[in-house]
Amino acid sequence: MNIPMVDLRSQYLKIKNEIDKNILNVIDNTAFINGDDVKILRNELAEYLNVKHVITCGNGTDALQIAMMALGLQPGDEVISTDFTFIATVETIALLKLTPVMVDVDPDTFCINPAEIEKAITPKTKAIMPVHLFGQCADMDRIMEIAEKYNLYVIEDTAQAIGSDFTSDKGWTKKAGTIGHIGCTSFFPSKNLGCYGDGGAIFTNDDELSEKLNSIVNHGMKVRYYHDRIGVNSRLDTIQAAVLRVKLPLLDEYNLARLTTADYYDKAFANCDKIITPKRFHKSTHTFHQYTMILNDVDRDGLQAYLQSKGIASAVYYPVALHNQKAFQGYHYNPNDFLITDKLCETVLSLPINTELDNDTLSYISDNVLEFLGK
Ligand SMILES: Cc1ncc(COP(=O)(O)O)c(C=O)c1O
Repeated sequence: MNIPMVDLRSQYLKIKNEIDKNILNVIDNTAFINGDDVKILRNELAEYLNVKHVITCGNGTDALQIAMMALGLQPGDEVISTDFTFIATVETIALLKLTPVMVDVDPDTFCINPAEIEKAITPKTKAIMPVHLFGQCADMDRIMEIAEKYNLYVIEDTAQAIGSDFTSDKGWTKKAGTIGHIGCTSFFPSKNLGCYGDGGAIFTNDDELSEKLNSIVNHGMKVRYYHDRIGVNSRLDTIQAAVLRVKLPLLDEYNLARLTTADYYDKAFANCDKIITPKRFHKSTHTFHQYTMILNDVDRDGLQAYLQSKGIASAVYYPVALHNQKAFQGYHYNPNDFLITDKLCETVLSLPINTELDNDTLSYISDNVLEFLGK
């Protein structure tokens, strides 16, 4: 047995004909940069997400940086985000010489805790950057209320939750990444909508912001060789867009396959007091970018080693909270502000989840987990 976390090869083999045809078509017509597939993908994504503007870019990290540049944030401005996320979220804040203010997460959803956001607001706060972690939306009702009350921008990091739906207390339902002022996503290969290299996109319903974003991704230029602002070079390759155009129509099916896998694990572990299965947030659908459970008084390293000996991959997302990373020591965060995150870093474990897992494999994985736990 060899069960990886992600199985891109099996997924590729099922769509090989279309993928190969689309890639060869790009090579054949040599429009490698800003080719037709990029333009069409932008429209197709806008339609899927029901958002006015989609701006593609080089990767999810660039998307976040470009979003903050377009909002005109200035050195010293504070951006509130979570420390239980991939580093890109907060790294980009620091890179622009803004001040990353990190707050603790909700113990059930692992997403930013709105009550903590409000406590962290100062006169320098300019934006909130929630992360829809592992496939589930943060509480965007509360976050948008706080943003309105304090006149803040909201940039959604939806790299892990493309396709998730958030249903507001007010009755509306919107796709993750289309609720705040700007949404950012990644098409990293292992993401729910992944390409075959690096890729990213930015979403907004605001015409003026869209114009700025379009300009920043392309050296601050609208008319060739006339530069209106300082920008960057961040483009989605046409070959990547060609891959994504095959996979976008399958995204809902892919997300459903992940949900079915999560349901299987939930059921298998329902009576095991050593495992807390992922809580589902009633306002959000869950696209299970990761199936992340909390272990209750379990030797996590031992369990991982045991699973490895049975050919089963597992992973810890994330082993070290960002406030404890060397890179952020200069900010002198107060360790008492991150008690939930710290506990999660010690107790979470993610099991294989992808679009290709069948019941026999899931039974093998869950039986082995329970075997180790003596259940
Ligand atoms: C939450 C989150 N934000 C941002 C990123 C950055 O995306 P990329 O790797 O495409 O730069 C990732 C993933 O890698 C992520 O998981």
